[in-house]
Amino acid sequence: MNKTILVNRDNPVPSDYLNSVEIVLIEVTEDYSVPLEKEAAEKYLQLKQRLDSLGIHVEALSGFRTQETQERIWRDSVAAHGEQHTRRYVAKPGYSEHQTGLALDLTLYDARGNMVAEDDIEAHARFFPYLHTFGFILRYPAGKEGVTGYPFEPWHIRYVGEKAAAAIYKNGWTLEEYVSHVRENDEDPQ
Ligand code: DAL
Ligand code: ZN
Repeated sequence: MNKTILVNRDNPVPSDYLNSVEIVLIEVTEDYSVPLEKEAAEKYLQLKQRLDSLGIHVEALSGFRTQETQERIWRDSVAAHGEQHTRRYVAKPGYSEHQTGLALDLTLYDARGNMVAEDDIEAHARFFPYLHTFGFILRYPAGKEGVTGYPFEPWHIRYVGEKAAAAIYKNGWTLEEYVSHVRENDEDPQ
C-alpha cells in the first residue's frame, strides 16, 4: 500500500490500487460505521483519543468510497448545487482520494455535543496541529487551491504516514509539493 499516493484532478486512482488495501470499519454509532484503510483507521482512533483528551471532539463522517458512492455524491451535488459548483468542490468519480481509503472527512462537535459548522475555521483549526503526529495531513489547506485543485476543506484529512506528515506540516506543503520534493531529491517518500 502506497501511503503517499497522489490522487487529484490530474491523477486518478490506479485501477489496481485497491488490491493492496485492506478496508476496515470504524464504528461511529450502533447504526453507522465508516470504512477506512486499516492502518489509517488505527491511527485515526489514536488521534481521536488524543483529541478527546484535549476536549476536541471529532467523529468520522466519510472515509473510503467506492466508484459508485462517488458517482452518487457527484450526481446528488449536481442536482442540489449545479454542475459548476460540483466541478469546483467534488472530485470526479475515479479522481477522489476517498477512493483510496486514505481520506477521511470529520465532523466536529462543540462541548455541548452540537455539530460545529464546516466553515467555522477557528474551531476546526484547534485540531490541525495534532494531525501530523498520527500521520495525517490537512489535505486541502487554505490558499492552496492553485496547487491542490480544491478550495479549503478544514474537515478533510488524509493519512500519509508519520514521515510524510511531519515534513508536510513543518514545511507548510501540500501533498503535491511533498511528492514533487521527494521526486526531485530522489528521496524515499515514506
Ligand atoms: N471533496 C473532495 C475533493 C472529494 O470529493 O474527494
Ligand atoms: Zn473529503
